[in-house]
Amino acid sequence: MGIPANTVPPQRCIAETLTLAGQHAEARPVQQAGDLGGYEGFVIGSAAYSMHRRKDATAFVMSTRDLLAHRPVWLFSTGPLGTDAKGVSLRTTAEPKEIRGFRTAIHPRDHHVFFGALDPGRLTFAEKTLRKLPAARAMMPERDFRDWTDIEDWARSIAEELTQQDARRAEEEP
Ligand SMILES: Cc1cc2nc3c(=O)[nH]c(=O)nc-3n(C[C@H](O)[C@H](O)[C@H](O)COP(=O)(O)O)c2cc1C
Repeated sequence: MGIPANTVPPQRCIAETLTLAGQHAEARPVQQAGDLGGYEGFVIGSAAYSMHRRKDATAFVMSTRDLLAHRPVWLFSTGPLGTDAKGVSLRTTAEPKEIRGFRTAIHPRDHHVFFGALDPGRLTFAEKTLRKLPAARAMMPERDFRDWTDIEDWARSIAEELTQQDARRAEEEP
């Protein structure tokens, strides 16, 4: 089935939902994050592959952990290829291995796992070969399981927290 070329990726959906809810946000690749001092908070996402987040996303968190530990941070991982019926356990077991260490290093406010999508056009030769095995095909269906309501709801809950934080700050100001 594949992923339609015009689909907005989860990170853009999150940035747009935050902005619509009054919290200006931009979705950027970690390599283009620029000067981090100007950000009030961070939402950092990565796809999961073989139970790990992408190396560049992990390197970003670890190299900026001193700053991130003092800012509100929300983490999300995309990955599990499954259905709603199996959803709860799939999402729990899909937590990438790095998240435990991130909890200690930067104290994120939340880590949320979103269902993923398998785009056959982006598989490596080795992955395509592996998927010739029926068991591997069953584990990696070529489908888009992304749940946009879940993604938007999560982004709205972040916007709410930030709005409450802004209100508290405004009250405290003399
Ligand atoms: C070889 C391979 C390994 C994968 N391993 C995992 C995994 O360990 N956990 C998981 O939740 N999803 C896993 N996935 C699913 C991907 O994370 C999912 O397809 C995701 O939506 C990819 O996002 P991207 O297109 O932004 O890279 C795997 C997919 C492939 C092709």
